[in-house]
Amino acid sequence: MPDSHLDVFVVGAGVIGLSTAIRALEAGFDVTIFAEWFPGDEKNIAAASCWAGADHVSGIAASDDLMYTLEKETFDELMKLLKKDPLIPVMVRPHMRYTQAVRPDDKLKNEHLSRFYSDFRLLNASELPETVVCGAMFSTLCIDVPRYLPYLMNRFVASGGRAFRTKLPSISALFSEKDRPPLTAFPATTSTTPPTFSPVPVINCTGLGALSLGDVLDTAMYPTRGEILIIRAPWANRDCTFHWEDGHTSYMIPRQSGDVVLGGTFQPDDWHSHSRPETVQLIKQRCIQAFPELLPSGTNDLEVIEECVGFRPTRKGGVRLEIGSLAGVKIIPVVHNYGHGGAGYQSSWGSANLAVELLKSVVQASNVPTTM
Ligand SMILES: Cc1cc2nc3c(=O)[nH]c(=O)nc-3n(C[C@H](O)[C@H](O)[C@H](O)COP(=O)(O)OP(=O)(O)OC[C@H]3O[C@@H](n4cnc5c(N)ncnc54)[C@H](O)[C@@H]3O)c2cc1C
Ligand SMILES: *[C@@H]1O[C@H](CO)[C@@H](O)[C@H](O)[C@H]1NC(C)=O
Ligand SMILES: *[C@@H]1O[C@H](CO)[C@@H](O)[C@H](O)[C@H]1NC(C)=O
Repeated sequence: MPDSHLDVFVVGAGVIGLSTAIRALEAGFDVTIFAEWFPGDEKNIAAASCWAGADHVSGIAASDDLMYTLEKETFDELMKLLKKDPLIPVMVRPHMRYTQAVRPDDKLKNEHLSRFYSDFRLLNASELPETVVCGAMFSTLCIDVPRYLPYLMNRFVASGGRAFRTKLPSISALFSEKDRPPLTAFPATTSTTPPTFSPVPVINCTGLGALSLGDVLDTAMYPTRGEILIIRAPWANRDCTFHWEDGHTSYMIPRQSGDVVLGGTFQPDDWHSHSRPETVQLIKQRCIQAFPELLPSGTNDLEVIEECVGFRPTRKGGVRLEIGSLAGVKIIPVVHNYGHGGAGYQSSWGSANLAVELLKSVVQASNVPTTM
């Protein structure tokens, strides 16, 4: 499946679009990606993927079966990739979770985490930092985002995928000679045979593009603002979260490069795209207190290399992974794969698997005209 080659378009080149496009290629489809932002471009506020940490720490939201499956498949897939190629930009690290005040859902959270991560255990009193009342640890994965996205892009191109840069006013504009904006092959060195724009299925991986695409407005989409710092600390060797008594959460995510991501904020519907000086100070001070190993020896300040803000593409009701169609163009099926919020990396491969399953079922059911 499919025996003759079928075209499919993927809109979006964040972690979701790229993982999905790779899976569709592997399933035998001819895949073309269309996106405004690509790996290797400067970071862009409209592409969540360039701002993420990113680690794999399943949230309580994943006690819902769909998210659980997506995150589990992703964990297993990343472990498999790492086994095959130890040099991929993903590391296994101990995750430590510290809590300053026991909260009502802590018990549920720990139950969830212990179901998810096989070596989960509670920390005993002698292992807890001062002021921490409870803690847990397990092994997890840390993804070096600035290296991982190009890794996905290269894998896609090496497997025969095509990609074009374009900013779409709507997905349906792709199929209209008159409305289609100019397309530029990406990377610029690849063959530029333009695709045939007869009706082919589209996989919609546009994240918060929700707000710029004119087809159908998904009013369930909103940003969850995340402010972070990137510091240099190649000696940092663990992945941690620290839940403060006042509700603030600090976290550190080490990268293969030796950089460490420090967070953070989770601010629903906050569109401020630049860092706020008071938040930078808060993240710094709290992370130094929570994770004292981050200070370079003999100093009392962090080596900050970047202050960043990103918008997690969040959706009321959770991720949208389902079949639809282009408004008014029923013969063009759409598989939606967006709205991963703060969990896009840790659910990327599972989401890609499911999106391609939906794509296959759509192709079987609708007998989409092939371009052969
Ligand atoms: C600070 C921060 C920390 C995070 N940490 C983690 C973490 O530790 N673990 C984790 O799993 N997740 C984390 N996330 C969440 C993760 O980054 C997102 O869930 C994920 O990146 C979403 O990917 P995406 O591909 O759906 O969207 P995006 O990366 O936003 O990609 C959207 C793509 O669609 C394209 N596009 C959109 N509209 C159009 C248009 N009109 N025309 C053409 N192209 C268009 C864009 O150009 C882009 O290529 C974090 C996010 C932030 C902000
Ligand atoms: C706490 O856990 C550590 C690591 O497993 C162990 O070495 C130590 O003996 C434990 N201490 C107590 C008091 O149980
Ligand atoms: C594609 O996804 C966006 C979310 O980024 C959504 O707003 C839009 O409605 C979807 N497009 C179509 C054609 O349904």
